[in-house]
Amino acid sequence: MAAEARPRTVLDLVAMKAAGRKITMLTCYDALFARLLAAADIDLLLVGDSLHQVLGGHETTLGATLDQMVYHAASVRRGAPDRLVFVDLPFLTYQVSIEEAIRNAGRVLAGSGAHGVKLEGGAAMAPTVRALVERGIPVLGHLGLTPQSVHALGGYRVQGRDELTANRLMADAQYLEDAGACGVVLELVPAPLAARISGTLTVPTIGIGAGAGCDGQVLVLHDMLGLNPDFSPRFLRRYADLASTVREAADRFAADVRSGRYPGPEHSFE
Ligand code: KIV
Repeated sequence: MAAEARPRTVLDLVAMKAAGRKITMLTCYDALFARLLAAADIDLLLVGDSLHQVLGGHETTLGATLDQMVYHAASVRRGAPDRLVFVDLPFLTYQVSIEEAIRNAGRVLAGSGAHGVKLEGGAAMAPTVRALVERGIPVLGHLGLTPQSVHALGGYRVQGRDELTANRLMADAQYLEDAGACGVVLELVPAPLAARISGTLTVPTIGIGAGAGCDGQVLVLHDMLGLNPDFSPRFLRRYADLASTVREAADRFAADVRSGRYPGPEHSFE
């Protein structure tokens, strides 16, 4: 999308959907990648709590902390000052009470300069979403496979396959929109259901493993760059093979050092 058509505020997201312009979002956790993505044609950056898995090497997102999210979000904002940045509220920073959710979401925005937060859950979270939005905090919802509930869901699996859970997902999405969410991430949802949800909402859906009928798509940056060869879910398309690039560069460096080819005179000081 041309720079002048890129979303500048969260209000532009609904306009993009109305205009039929697909929304692109990638996760980003640091200033370096943010600078690279700011030079690319990406609409939104998401400081996902997936950083706990991708950077921290943990099994789940559950241990990510608010301080970590603020630190990484502030880094991303510094690297990409002209992009909209959303930040995941970590597990148990918004579920305990609405008061805590407001305080913690406020800390994320004030401490990082990000534009909005993302939180997981449907009807049960609608009053929290409404309270945040009424206090000026933009909220992206997240439905389907909600990673903070991975244990309750029995693993990372597609959600909404039967009529009951599909209807619940449809209703949850509407609850989030009615509560003021500016968009809804749909993760691991059958494509026809995600398309139906997208067709009924005014705010955009942003899919990951939810098919082409969503109003936008999000991927984890490190996965789409091919930095994690062990992670190959069906929905992932790799746009680079950086794992091989990194391995080959490290091997060449080691070989050069061992053979005396590095450092050369041009890398040394008199
Ligand atoms: O934490 C994350 O990276 C996410 C995306 C997968 C949507 O929530």
